[in-house]
Amino acid sequence: MVIFLFLGTLAAKAQLNLKKDIRFAESQTILMLDEIDKIKQHDKTGNLVAPRTLEHGKLKLVASRDWTSGFFAGELWYLYDLTKNKNWRYFAEKFTKPLEQEKTNAKTHDMGFKVYCSFGNAYRITGNDYYKNVIIESAKTLASRYSDKVKAIRSWDHNSEKWAFPVIIDNMMNLELLFEATKLTGDSTFYKIAVNHANTTLKNHFRPDYSSYHVIGYDPETGKVLKKNTHQGYNDESAWARGQAWAIYGYTMCYRYTKDKRYLEQAEHIVNYFFKHKNMPADMIPYWDFDAPNIPNEPRDVSAATIVASALLELANYSKNKKSYFKHAKLILTNISKNYISKPGSNKGFILSYSTGSKPSNLEVNVPLSYADYYYLEALNRYKSFK
Ligand code: GLY
Repeated sequence: MVIFLFLGTLAAKAQLNLKKDIRFAESQTILMLDEIDKIKQHDKTGNLVAPRTLEHGKLKLVASRDWTSGFFAGELWYLYDLTKNKNWRYFAEKFTKPLEQEKTNAKTHDMGFKVYCSFGNAYRITGNDYYKNVIIESAKTLASRYSDKVKAIRSWDHNSEKWAFPVIIDNMMNLELLFEATKLTGDSTFYKIAVNHANTTLKNHFRPDYSSYHVIGYDPETGKVLKKNTHQGYNDESAWARGQAWAIYGYTMCYRYTKDKRYLEQAEHIVNYFFKHKNMPADMIPYWDFDAPNIPNEPRDVSAATIVASALLELANYSKNKKSYFKHAKLILTNISKNYISKPGSNKGFILSYSTGSKPSNLEVNVPLSYADYYYLEALNRYKSFK
């Protein structure tokens, strides 16, 4: 078991004004809806469904096939959750529906992000069978990417000259869709795939200090590990901040469904790595990679912080470190509201700023990202109902 020693001093004074934070999120999102409308009026393809980021100050919308397409609909569901204002439910439904076609898109592992953040929340809140059926169909499609030889779900089809069967740590997040599909259908196939994937990742993705590699390349015939690399991190042996966040969230969620102690312990170990790292700033908003070469002159990644804040608010309920985890989540959320939110009325309606998508490709560096906003609202929601 992880010993969590470092609490006490850092979080005692943190103040969070939940009402104010929710009001701010609402006012930014109203602006975002307007900005989306303006772009859609000129979208000849008719394919653009959700905001992803700002590109040279302009709002970038994506098609449903993009891995980020489900986050905005999810945000709207969380705003409805947080406020019970029916207008948010109206917009949530409106932005969820165009993602339905992804349920049969087997070209990517990102099904959980796209469908669970949108349709998953929709079903949780409404209980409507339409949403349930899309979840089940999507889980079937995702399961088609599973290999019984590797005992994992294949992540990417791209870069096939480099990786014959790549699995990225992000892929842990898609398991929620599979666990839910078993709950909804009684078919344990999805559950078994999720558990096998989590176990294979547990075995191969982590270093002795519990930091995670980004990409593991497997031999598709034997399941042997061929390569351990990065794609969005600083280098193969570095700890990409969002990768660590996906791992913490992923194993926390796997513990929720399985009650397998190894998943709980893994999540706690990674949390320990994350917060005790010598390069973690005092405000707990990590640099984009813990081993980035020019720290402290490196961009932060607010998305990693919001993913971890949300995960901690779940993990706290399973762990003997409850108080510590809660205080860390609260500290992150408080510091975000103080220093990392958009200026009111700016950023085309994104709630937060200062996230980093892919520094090595110089893409989406120090900008708003829809998934930072999504996990922020999820965290506020979890904070609100925390006991
Ligand atoms: N799942 C892609 C990313 O975290 O950038």
